[in-house]
Amino acid sequence: MNFAQGKSAQETEQKNNVFYCPEESQFYSYCLELLLMIHFSPDIVIEFGSGDGTAVIAAMLRTRFAGIIQGYEINPKACAAANRHICQYGLDNRYMILNSCFFKNALVFEKKCLISNPPYLPCFRKEDMILPELYGGADGAEIIKKLLSINFSSVIMLIPSISNPLSVFQYAKQKGYSVSNFLVTELPFGYYSSQPEIQDTLCILKHKSISFFSDTGYLIAGVLFQKKEYAEIDRSQELSSIMQSLK
Ligand SMILES: C[S@@+](CC[C@H](N)C(=O)[O-])C[C@H]1O[C@@H](n2cnc3c(N)ncnc32)[C@H](O)[C@@H]1O
Repeated sequence: MNFAQGKSAQETEQKNNVFYCPEESQFYSYCLELLLMIHFSPDIVIEFGSGDGTAVIAAMLRTRFAGIIQGYEINPKACAAANRHICQYGLDNRYMILNSCFFKNALVFEKKCLISNPPYLPCFRKEDMILPELYGGADGAEIIKKLLSINFSSVIMLIPSISNPLSVFQYAKQKGYSVSNFLVTELPFGYYSSQPEIQDTLCILKHKSISFFSDTGYLIAGVLFQKKEYAEIDRSQELSSIMQSLK
């Protein structure tokens, strides 16, 4: 399945201010397939920030996952695109997306499993960003930590090496999570993360030794966090070392 049809799809999505980064979305999709749908397979899953929906749809089509995914997407254009894609693939009884802020709905969640490719870009001024919905706070880790504070039993989330990852693993531990499993890949700096305002912020965070990247890119991990009572092992030390390996 190929939702992204080359440059014209990219230009349309980016002009519409809908997140478009196929490398990252495809990695998220692959992590969902391996960490959620094949081995773990809960009956109900909540998603923060569904974007255009294609990452989850592709993973659902590649597996026999039979659960229900309830997504929340704050950007109305992304949500409309997602709902179009869901209908196109006949998944409207298994993947539902509301155009609403995730945090405004937190009281109604069944807190079994949360999935997300969250906003994680740090920037001095959110309003300077190409897509302010991708703002992750001063060090990029604020939304990630907020999502780990809601108390889901399991969380599958992308964690980048540029956004204070060691503090994320420490915070997860404080909240009672182990890192049960993970996958890591290297991403090149893309359309959003190459923006000069973001690069300037990243250089300052790198000098403080809380952001790790090379001249060309950074690492991103798809992480399965599980509350300690459900986890068999904790691989957080191993992942912390890997995240610091790009200089
Ligand atoms: C990095 S993008 C990921 C999109 C998609 N999941 C993917 O991987 O292709 C993060 C998404 O979170 C959405 N978002 C940001 N803040 C949100 C909030 N408070 N509630 C719901 N969605 C939000 C953004 O609009 C954006 O579409």
